[in-house]
Amino acid sequence: MSVYVNRILNMKKIKAIGFDMDYTLVRYHTDKFEKLSFNTALEKLISIKGYPVRSEDLHFDPQMVIQGLVIDKKRGNLLKVSRFGKVKISYHGTTPIDFGQQQKVYRNRMVDLSHENYQSLDTCFSLSNGALFAQLVEQKKKGAELPDFEQIADDVREMIDLAHRDGSLKNAVRNNIEEYIIPDPNVARLLERLKRYGKRLLVITNSDYSYTELLMNYTVTPYLKEHSNWKELFEVIITLAKKPVFFLEKQDFLEIEPKSGMMKNVHAPITEGIHQGGNAQQLQKDLQLKGDDILYLGDHIYGDVVTLKKTLNWRTALVLEPLSQEIASIQSSKEILQEIDKLMLEKESLETKLNTLDIEKSSKNKNEVKSQMNEVFSTIENTNTQISKLLDDHKNYFNPYWGEVMRAGSEESRFADQVEKYACIYMSQVTDLLNYSPKTYFRPHKRILPHEIINN
Ligand code: IMP
Ligand code: MG
Repeated sequence: MSVYVNRILNMKKIKAIGFDMDYTLVRYHTDKFEKLSFNTALEKLISIKGYPVRSEDLHFDPQMVIQGLVIDKKRGNLLKVSRFGKVKISYHGTTPIDFGQQQKVYRNRMVDLSHENYQSLDTCFSLSNGALFAQLVEQKKKGAELPDFEQIADDVREMIDLAHRDGSLKNAVRNNIEEYIIPDPNVARLLERLKRYGKRLLVITNSDYSYTELLMNYTVTPYLKEHSNWKELFEVIITLAKKPVFFLEKQDFLEIEPKSGMMKNVHAPITEGIHQGGNAQQLQKDLQLKGDDILYLGDHIYGDVVTLKKTLNWRTALVLEPLSQEIASIQSSKEILQEIDKLMLEKESLETKLNTLDIEKSSKNKNEVKSQMNEVFSTIENTNTQISKLLDDHKNYFNPYWGEVMRAGSEESRFADQVEKYACIYMSQVTDLLNYSPKTYFRPHKRILPHEIINN
């Protein structure tokens, strides 16, 4: 598939390429892993937090959440928000909120993600979080004695976090790696090609060293042709980086001895080897690079891309797993969309006609104009019916609850807006870069502003 370009990026000028690991270099069977995460966090809510629910009453629905949704913690709702912060689709638990009710609650509210009331679900790892929250809200509605919605949201987040940190999820992956991880020989191909072109490669992951070893040895090492081990590819490997803190603060680096996994403090410049923690500013300085010499690829719009773009001058690339499905659906629903666009243009010209008639009302035969206006009104109504039927058909090609990831109605979604603002390029999988030489000059399409559209 293609690489999509928001900002000019000349790969010839990129000296170093940093990679996130999970969901960037390494792909997961998302539905299976998120089901595991859902069930593990649910067990913890029952055993640690004493939630009075039966695990068999809650089910992970992989479609219930898409990347970019927002949890309204106070109200127990899941929201899809436009780039203007307006709520476009909402669910209370798993129950859709009708348009009238949604308007009542959210019409005068802009969803501001910096407010503590909101939690955004930005990565594939957060799908289970949203789905579990929604199911628990349903349980509470059915009478289960659960805390208020805000507390449920905080508890779910805490238990998901714990499941990631206490080894529950990582041990399950270790014990059954084929079930959860997708090995892709093209990743090794890409990395070796980039190296051949003289790019200096880095890994910067929030995973710990032993998990990084496990996944990279499973997905990269067996497919290498010019190297014997994944570690040979990378000049510096940073584990437990604590992104976004890695990009923001001056944490110290620890050095990891690869055989024993033992750690020690480092005082020398970071120029090679395996580390834990640390910070981007020092790494850049020690590698004697300028910010815009480095391209960083990650899947977390906030942790990997937004923070980095706001604090350092590194170039950014986002890997967005749902993109391939979204593009396939856009392709197959193309004709419906063209028909909608055509009807919208017709509607627009009918509305213009209506306004002209309205102006003419005072100077012409009132009754005659009125009857013409009624005729136009009824044609518009007819067009509206056709459009809404087509919109329903169009929805069937996308997620049944939320529609597209990147659009919220006719506007871009909040998520798409962030991608556009902060990711220089974006793609569905890191291996999409194989379709381009490492010398490519990535150029965006010219964006057309509303006043630049010339109607004939
Ligand atoms: P990265 O994408 O390579 O930076 O690493 C992601 C790491 O963060 C993986 O080890 C995940 O298990 C872990 N992770 C994902 N979500 C959470 C969370 O909510 N809490 C703690 N760790 C997480
Ligand atoms: Mg990641």
